[in-house]
Formats: sequence, C-alpha cells, structure tokens
Amino acid sequence: MTATESEHVTPVEVGHARSAGPSVQDFLARDTRPVPASMLDNSAAPQGAADVPKSRYVDARFAELENEYLWTSTWQMACMEVDLEQPGDHVVYDVADQSLIVVRTKAGEIKAYHNACLHRGTKLRVDDGRVASFRCPFHGWRWDLDGTLTELPAEWDFPQVWEQPDSCLPEAAVATWQGFVFVNMAEDPQPFDTYADKLIEHFERDFDMTGRYRAFWATKEVPANWKVCMEAFGEGYHVIATHPQILEFTADENSEYSIWPESPHVTRFVNGFGAQSPHLSELTPQQVVDAYLAFAANSPKGKVPDGMRIDVPDDANPRAVVADIFRAAMSDRFGVDLSDRSDTELLDATLYHLFPAFAPWAGIGQSLVYRWRPGSTPDTCFMDVIRMAPNPDDGSVPEPAPQQRLTLEQRWHEAEGMGQLADVFQQDMDNLPRVQAGLKSRGKRGVSFGVYQETRMRMHHRMIDAYIDAGLARDVRSADELDPWRTPAG
Ligand code: FES
Ligand SMILES: [Fe+2]
Repeated sequence: MTATESEHVTPVEVGHARSAGPSVQDFLARDTRPVPASMLDNSAAPQGAADVPKSRYVDARFAELENEYLWTSTWQMACMEVDLEQPGDHVVYDVADQSLIVVRTKAGEIKAYHNACLHRGTKLRVDDGRVASFRCPFHGWRWDLDGTLTELPAEWDFPQVWEQPDSCLPEAAVATWQGFVFVNMAEDPQPFDTYADKLIEHFERDFDMTGRYRAFWATKEVPANWKVCMEAFGEGYHVIATHPQILEFTADENSEYSIWPESPHVTRFVNGFGAQSPHLSELTPQQVVDAYLAFAANSPKGKVPDGMRIDVPDDANPRAVVADIFRAAMSDRFGVDLSDRSDTELLDATLYHLFPAFAPWAGIGQSLVYRWRPGSTPDTCFMDVIRMAPNPDDGSVPEPAPQQRLTLEQRWHEAEGMGQLADVFQQDMDNLPRVQAGLKSRGKRGVSFGVYQETRMRMHHRMIDAYIDAGLARDVRSADELDPWRTPAG
C-alpha cells in the first residue's frame, strides 16, 4: 500500500494523529498466539507541539543543572547482580561528576558508597574488581566492606573522626530488579517499586528477564549529548532515512508510543517487524519475508541463503511466517521451547524506558538493554548496549559477557559479538555528531519534535524539568535554613 498524502495530513487532535496502515494493536490482533497482556496496555498522552529549547543539549549551564539535580536524585542502573557474586566484588558507577562503589558485603547485601575518602576526598576505587576492604591510596584510611572505618594511621590526630559515629562511608540507596542493580543518591528517594511501577508490573507479568544471561556488553563513548544519543533510539521515525535497508520488513511509521501519566518514569515504544513500511508501495508477503530473512541471515540485500527460502502465499501474514521461522531457529539455538511464545515477542522491537536513562527491550527476539550517562562536557556521553540471551533449558547458566569499552573514535563494528546489529548501530551513531554540531548553529532555535512519534522525548524533557525545579526549590529552602540572614524577618 502507498500512503497517500491526504492520509498523512488529515486534521486530527494534536497527539492523536496516526500514520496510514495497520497499528501495532492491529498486528497484535492478528498474532498467532495469545499476546502478553502488557502489549495491550497502551496509552497515548499528548505532550503538546512546542519546540524544546536547544540549550538543553549544548549549554554547559544546563548540563550543570542536570548534574546537580537529575543524576543525584533518580534511580539508575549501576551494574548487574552477576557482577557482585562474592563479598568484596564491586563496580565503580561513575555518572556526571559523581561516583559510587557498588559492592557485595560479607553479609551478602549489596551496598553503594560514595566513592570519596572521608579524609581529603580521594576516590577510593577507580576500577571494578574484588577487594577485602577499601583502602585509600593517599594516607591509608581503610573501610570494611560494610562501610565501617577500620584503620586510620595516626588516629590520635583525628579525634573528630576516629571511633566517631559518622566515620562510615556515606551510602546511596540500592534496589535490585530482574538481575539489575539500581542506585539513587537522593537522601530520601521515592522507593524503586513505585518509581518504576509500570515497568515492574509489565516485566514481572510478561517479560521476566531472570532466566537470561548477559551474552554481550559494550560501552561506547559517543560524541553527542546523552539526550541526543538516547533520543536516537526512541522512535521509528528515523528508519526511512537512517536505516532504509530495513523498510521492507519494518512498520516504522506504524510504531506505537506509550506514556502512562500515572507512572511518569516509564514509557514504551513498540515497532512492528515482519510488515512493510507504509512509505513503500505495496509488497507481496513473499517480498517482505525474503527481505527479513536475508537481513536476519546477514546476507546481501534481498538474498535469502540457500535452504532458507520458503514459498509464501499471497494471502499469508508475513509476520506469522517469519515468527514461525524465528521460533524454531531460536529454540534450537538457545535450547529452549518457544512454541507458545507470540509473534510479537519473537519479532517486534518493544523498548521500555525508565527515566532518566535505562531502556530494556521486552520480548525474546532482541533482548537488548541500553543505558546512557552524560560525558564530561555536554557534547559527549556514554552508551551501554547489553544483550540478554535465554539460559538453556538444561539448567546451565553461561558466564556473563565482560564489558568491552569503545572509545569516541571506535566504531560499533569493533565490539566483538555485535553481529549485524553493528551496521544498524553505526548508522545511528553516524548521525549523532552532526546533530550535536547542528544544534549549535545560530540559526537553529529549538528542537521540533513530532507530536506523536516523538511524544516520549517531550515527556522526558518535562521530567528533567520537574527534577531540576524540585532540586532548585530544595536548595532555596536549605540555603535559607543554613543562612537565616537571607530570609527577611517576619
Ligand atoms: S585522602 Fe584518603 S587517606 Fe588521605
Ligand atoms: Fe536506529
């Protein structure tokens, strides 16, 4: 089908416009298996049409506000529980200008300590690893894994510290969920369970990740603001120009974007696969299936490898055909029975987002997890890509993949084990420095997000503002408390 221009410009209420062609909910209605209930829980929440000021991406003063009030007050994924198997195993979680040591204690708990010596501030750990205690390299103050100060050379000289109640390492809040460890530096944070409620509800009911292992993990420094990078992975709108090689089997513009106002930290993006883009003129089911299989096999465009080609009748649903093939192939590859898993779980990109910067895919087809963190200037950031694969049915749990680090200059292809995803990721990444540079143009005023396909970005910016505003209000209050002279009498 070719979407006519008139279909695209039919006037509708802002935020309720939809592309021509089937919606994600239409795809789900034709699934060959019962679909997870969470997939039916979709919710549009228009966020207006105003431009978002570009200063939020390029201005160091805005980055300072984020550093001060966003990264210090939100739940962020610091590591995975498998990284903290034994007492003393720890991960250094650096974000903005803050650093935490996330550690397994001798009692088996997971704790997060601010990574700064209580003497003169030295970072206690700069690398992940296993230690028996945390000893500062500068003058040798030492803390036990439970945060207690156990050694202080010349303790006679520090009566204000030695054996005083506040000599323990200050802690941040910790929560674990689905094998991931989250931290929050706020003094009295909203409990993770309510902060992430929609995410928890959906994953615990339908998308359990605890039966999976980390099959791949790479962290790349990226030459763009963290929001520029994150937003590049949050919509299907860019497929037409950035990934034209997948249009034959990607319902890009038919994607679904959900915001649940009652759970504002969680949003979702669903992009259907195994159906053609509405940008193309009508393809046969055979063409859609061939294009998808060739891509999945990493073959030259449109070339289905020998032995894989199947005849697809003209009245077939290409989604069902490809899902059947993937169901069988993935069952074999991972040694698991996927016979009752729905087409959408096998095929679609269902990407949840937990504010500010954690994004796990649901389903079993891709099973990626993303994380973003700001860099040392507004012009760089770090992006993590993790792939979670199902544990084999024989009860074994493969070793978790170690972290691969890619520099600003390296390409995703240099990450071992990324497969054909490297091409797609590199296409995304190639745009980012150009976006960052263009945002600095004197002629560019604001970012004109789409009112539906980019609603989630609008929502994220509102959430960032909410955290900054709350932080600024707290600071005014605490400054007044600290310095009563500032408050006029009466
Ligand atoms: S700065 Fe850590 S012991 Fe002196
Ligand atoms: Fe992309």
